[in-house]
Amino acid sequence: MKHITCIEDLRDLARRKVPRAFFDYAEAGSYNQETLRANRADLEAIKLRQRVLVDVSQRSQATTLVGQKIASPMVLAPIGLCGMQRGDGEILAARAALEAGIPFTLSTMSICSIEDVAEATAKPFWFQLYVIRDRGFSHAILERAAAAKCSTLVLTVDLQVLGQRHQDIRNGLTVPPEIRLKNIIDIACKPAWALSILAGKRKTFGNLAGHVKGMDNVNSLGQWIAQQFDPALSWRDVEWIKKIWPGTLILKGILDVEDARTAVKLGADGIVVSNHGGRQLDGAASSISMLPRVADAVGGDTDVLFDGGIRTGADILRALALGAKACMIGRAYVYGLGAGGEAGVAKAIDILRKELDVAMALTGTNSIKDIGPQVLNDGTDRPQPAAKANKPARKKQKTKSAE
Ligand SMILES: Cc1cc2nc3c(=O)[nH]c(=O)nc-3n(C[C@H](O)[C@H](O)[C@H](O)COP(=O)(O)O)c2cc1C
Repeated sequence: MKHITCIEDLRDLARRKVPRAFFDYAEAGSYNQETLRANRADLEAIKLRQRVLVDVSQRSQATTLVGQKIASPMVLAPIGLCGMQRGDGEILAARAALEAGIPFTLSTMSICSIEDVAEATAKPFWFQLYVIRDRGFSHAILERAAAAKCSTLVLTVDLQVLGQRHQDIRNGLTVPPEIRLKNIIDIACKPAWALSILAGKRKTFGNLAGHVKGMDNVNSLGQWIAQQFDPALSWRDVEWIKKIWPGTLILKGILDVEDARTAVKLGADGIVVSNHGGRQLDGAASSISMLPRVADAVGGDTDVLFDGGIRTGADILRALALGAKACMIGRAYVYGLGAGGEAGVAKAIDILRKELDVAMALTGTNSIKDIGPQVLNDGTDRPQPAAKANKPARKKQKTKSAE
């Protein structure tokens, strides 16, 4: 990890260490990848406002998110098949996140189960739910998450049907997976990866295996999953979940002001402005372009999180300046995991944290609450307004008992 200087270095290393099918799975967006590209391009187009001779000797990234104190405005995003980037990947990432004082979110579609991660970690983590056709299964998995003391539920609402990723089909990463000669040769060239997978606790979807009758191997589980995403999912399901989930509830995948208002009306403690990392509706607006409108509309009533394209600490500063309270980190940490397991994830978090620190210093900012639009260069010479006046007023967060 010594010569790793940025997230791009971790990505290069992961490309060499992780079999092509799984690296591409993490990398890809849906269809023509327009939204995937827009996520990055629109972030990069936002310029920061360099300020000088401001005393920035008291910098801190500590903040509060949905009533939870966190060391940096970051959350590790839910990532399906995380444990295929590196054996026991979910446990390794959870440990790195908890060590760094930020939340880790376990995906429904993880390899390690809720119970595996709970057993291997000392502090509560977040759980992400896909509501599937079998509501009995959804209810049962929520009970498991509550029993494992998951503090926050992240309900993903932008995947009623699955956006196609062409590369997954070309690589044979279909559901069920195809065994092809080129995949076997590729894996043979990545022995460290193969050993880590062999030594890992599980080789299939840990949250589902053993909980779905008669479906204990990858192929049959895969078929079951493909049939289980539910196009009939609606706001009524959110009301149902709100009733049965005892902890904090965040809705992930909101990209529209009207949807954000409905989420708040139904009592969401937080929302994630997200287009699933450009993996669902191709042609949708970039996440960052929608963030200011959504934050203006509901930022005073709920905690607004952001994801989509975060690769640097400066990106985090940009999102916070436009109204986010924190950012979910997706591929940036997946690259770290593929590149170096737990140490790689820790490195990814550390890179982002240090870059954010420097970006804060050079824009004249000491604390997260002081980050507002005044750190952005909008091309005018307007006088610097008081930082606090630029942030929408936030409601006081209740601390939930499950925290
Ligand atoms: C490989 C991969 C798997 C993902 N799996 C899930 C998932 O299981 N549940 C979910 O809500 N989002 C999932 N996402 C979306 C991420 O949580 C997050 O929204 C996205 O990665 C943010 O964009 P970024 O990767 O550009 O940071 C996945 C993303 C990737 C790249």
